[in-house]
Amino acid sequence: MKVLGVNAVFHDPAAVLVVDGEIVAAAEEERFSRRKHGKPPVAFSTWELPEQAARWCLAHAGIEPAELDAVAYSYDPALAPPTSDVSDAVWEGLRTLYVRRAPRFLATALPGLDPARVRFVPHHVAHAASAYAAAGWRDCATLVLDGRGESSSHLAGHVRGGRLRTLAAQPLPHSLGLVYEELTAHLGFRRASDEYKVMAMASYGRPRFVEELRACMYTTGDGGFHAAAPDWRAFAPALDGGDGEGWGPAHADLAASVQRRLEQMLLELASWLHARTGERRLAMAGGVALNCVANARLHREGPFDEVWVQPAAGDAGTALGAALHVASQLGERVRPMRTAALGRGWSEEELGRWLSGAGVAFERVDDVAAVVAETLADDGIVAWFQGRSEFGPRALGHRSLLADPRRAQNTERLNDVKGREQFRPVAPMVLEQRAGEIFSGRLPSPHMLFTHAVAEEWRERIPAVVHVDGSARIQTVSADDEPLMARVLREFDARTGVPVVVNTSLNTAGRPMVDDPRDALECFGSAPIDLLAIGPFVVRRPRPTARTARAAEPTPAMA
Ligand SMILES: [Fe+2]
Repeated sequence: MKVLGVNAVFHDPAAVLVVDGEIVAAAEEERFSRRKHGKPPVAFSTWELPEQAARWCLAHAGIEPAELDAVAYSYDPALAPPTSDVSDAVWEGLRTLYVRRAPRFLATALPGLDPARVRFVPHHVAHAASAYAAAGWRDCATLVLDGRGESSSHLAGHVRGGRLRTLAAQPLPHSLGLVYEELTAHLGFRRASDEYKVMAMASYGRPRFVEELRACMYTTGDGGFHAAAPDWRAFAPALDGGDGEGWGPAHADLAASVQRRLEQMLLELASWLHARTGERRLAMAGGVALNCVANARLHREGPFDEVWVQPAAGDAGTALGAALHVASQLGERVRPMRTAALGRGWSEEELGRWLSGAGVAFERVDDVAAVVAETLADDGIVAWFQGRSEFGPRALGHRSLLADPRRAQNTERLNDVKGREQFRPVAPMVLEQRAGEIFSGRLPSPHMLFTHAVAEEWRERIPAVVHVDGSARIQTVSADDEPLMARVLREFDARTGVPVVVNTSLNTAGRPMVDDPRDALECFGSAPIDLLAIGPFVVRRPRPTARTARAAEPTPAMA
C-alpha cells in the first residue's frame, strides 16, 4: 500500500511517503523552494502545494502518482467553520474552497494521480497520529496543541489498540498557540515562525506577570481551556523592529510570564488526560510541542512516566500523521519512525561530481570523523553534511554547524556566522552513554525536544552551550543510531576530554536549512566556516594570506 501524506493548508508544506506501513521519505517544501516555512500562513496561499517535496518522495521510491493508493491531506474542509462564524469570513471561505479543490490541484501537480484517491484527515487527528503512530505506541494518551486546525486548537485523546478516541477538543478562538504567536509579534518577531526566540528570551526574565495572566489563560476542568491574548501593552511596549531589537527587562519578564503560564496549563491539561486515560505514556505533537522548556517541565513534574514528542511536531508533521492514519485505515500495520533522517541524500560519487563541478579544492580523507574532531579541537567551525537530511526544524547531525563547546565566545561566533540574535543559545550534542554525567532530565534525548540542567561541575567546561538559566537543549547521540556522529564525539573526547560538541542547524539567518550540496557550498562560501565535511570529502577554507589579511584590516582613514 502506497500512501502520500500532504500538509499544505497553513505553513510548512511537506510531503511524506509511507509504503507498506514504512515511512520511506519525508521532506518539507522549503528545502527545495528555499523559502523559509514554504509559504506565508494566509488563506490565499492555501492552494500552494508541496509539489517539489511530493515529486521527490515519489521519485525516491520509484513510484508513479498513478500507483498511489491514497493521498492523505491533513485538513478536513467538512470541519471548517461556516464562514459566518469567523470575523475574516471571506478569507476563511477562500481557504475552505481551496482545500475542497486540493484533489484537483494535486492531480495537476502530480500527473496521473486519480483525484478520487485524495482523502481529507482532520488536522488534529493528523497531528495526533504523527505522535502516537510514529512512536509505535498502540496504547497511550495523546495531546495536540497548536495555533489552529479547522475550528479548534487542541486535541486530547486516548489511543487503544492503535485507534484514537478524542476526549476533548478546544474550539477556537481559544488557542495557546495563537496566544504565543501574538506575543511573538508583540516582541517584534515573526509570528508562526519565531516562537522559539520568545522561549529563549523568557530565560532572561522573571515571570512577574503570571498571576495577571490567569484572567485570560486558564484551564476549564473539562480537558479544555480559555486562552485569549491580553493587551500586551499593559505589560511591555510593542517592538516593531521585526527582529526583536530593543527589548528590555519588561519584555523578557513578559516572555517569562507567558512561558510559565503555558507550562502550568500544560501540566493541568496533562493531569486531566492522565486521570481520564490511566495511561503511563504521552505522545505529543502540534507547534506548542516544540516548546522544549515546557516539554522538560512536563516530563519532570507531570503525571506520565514517558513523554514522546515527534521531531516534526509543527504542521509539517501532519503530512506524516495523515499518511500513517490513512495507511492504518486501509489495514496497514504502520511501523514506528526510527529516524528523522528521511530527506534527500547523495552517494559518494554524486557528491564528488558536485564538488568537481563547483571547481573548489577538495580532498577525500580516510577518516572524516577524525579530521572534523581535529578541526573542532583546534577551534575551527565545521559545516557537517552527511547522509539524508532531517525532517522537522532541528538539525540532528546530518546538516549541522559544529564547534568547540569549551570556548564561551563560540556562542557569539556561531550567532555571528548565522547572522542571528545574540541572546539565542546554541545546543550541545553529547555521546549518549556519557550524557548522564553532564546533563539531568529526560535521557536519552535524541531529538532536541527537551531542555536539561547542566551539572554544576560541567558549566565552566562547556560554556558555549550553557544557556543563561544553566540549561541546555541537548541531543544525545548513540553509536547504533548515528555511528558517524558518535565517532566525531569520541574522537573529540579523545583529544579534549569532553564528549560534547556544539551543534546548530546548517543555515544562515532567515534561510531554510541546507538540504542539497549546492546549498552546502553556498553556505560555506558565504560564511566564515573553516571546514566543510561533505560525505567523505572535506573542503578547507584557505588561511588568510598576509595580503588578504591586510586587505581586510581597516585603513587609518577608514578607522
Ligand atoms: Fe497544526
